[in-house]
Amino acid sequence: MGIQAFGYFGVGASNLDDWSQFATRQLGLQQVDSSQVSRSFRMDDRKQRLMVDRALPQGETYFGWEVADAAALDALAARLEAARVAVRREPAAVANQRCVQGVIAFRDPAGNRLEAFYGPLLADEPFRPGRNISGYLAGALGIGHAVLMVEDFDAALAFYRDLLGFRVSDYINRPITACFLHVNPRHHSLALFKHAPGGLHHLMMELYSLDDVGQSYDIAQAEGRVAVTLGRHPNDYMTSFYIRSPGNFLVENGWGARQIDDATWQPQEMTTVASFWGHDGLIRSVAGDGPPPGHVPAPPPEGRRAPLQVMEGNYHKLSGVCPWWDATAGQARGPD
Ligand SMILES: [Fe+2]
Repeated sequence: MGIQAFGYFGVGASNLDDWSQFATRQLGLQQVDSSQVSRSFRMDDRKQRLMVDRALPQGETYFGWEVADAAALDALAARLEAARVAVRREPAAVANQRCVQGVIAFRDPAGNRLEAFYGPLLADEPFRPGRNISGYLAGALGIGHAVLMVEDFDAALAFYRDLLGFRVSDYINRPITACFLHVNPRHHSLALFKHAPGGLHHLMMELYSLDDVGQSYDIAQAEGRVAVTLGRHPNDYMTSFYIRSPGNFLVENGWGARQIDDATWQPQEMTTVASFWGHDGLIRSVAGDGPPPGHVPAPPPEGRRAPLQVMEGNYHKLSGVCPWWDATAGQARGPD
């Protein structure tokens, strides 16, 4: 077993108070550690998921990838070293700072600092959100997903897919080059976009309730933080929008993504980057611009839709039948 989740994320920043406000009041995370040099935040039963550190260079990031145990971490280190990737076995002080039992550090071909770890520590107290949200779908699925822009797409894809063992969910060959990769049932824990300059485009965090996303949208609108409007992605089916964070990247708040069963999933080529609806500003966000005030999004190029992805206890079934679904399911079955 290799990497099984995107476990934590850290960023270097000097504006710690801005991050505290953003993480708690906008995202609803719980601040658990506050010092002159760093802040850390919870989103579930783990001791921490998001760290902001003034001691790191501004904008420097690190991505924590989780493995099962010490043996899996050793095996991963050996695999990286056999591929001539420099691996640093971090001392206990770093593991303590990350609230894990063991950690190694290395870099991807684009120069991003990656960490692999095992043994995340759980908090003694239940998660207490920074504002009234129902909570984040994290746990074994991890913090969410990260989307990296990379100049050398082929090198990055080979590294994550062939060396680290990430599995392809779907991909785009035109009009852009991109690949979505999973390490557990979450549709993607990482996506790579061919783009210069490189860097982190966004982090995604998935809420249990669509209303939580809507309320986050209200807050972001009031504060002028909406970078990409509400919309629904055609690959993971997530309803989401994108928020300008105090760092140099966006945070996507979403709900209702589908999950992947590796036993049956087949990687698919996507023929368009357009969402089912909304997500106005997504393309421009790559270049650093959001939608101008009062901008009316273009209508969708075609009618596309998919069933909602709901979990037990989070829906009520209405009476009656759905002609659209009956027709869709009938097409999927083919002629009798
Ligand atoms: Fe995303």
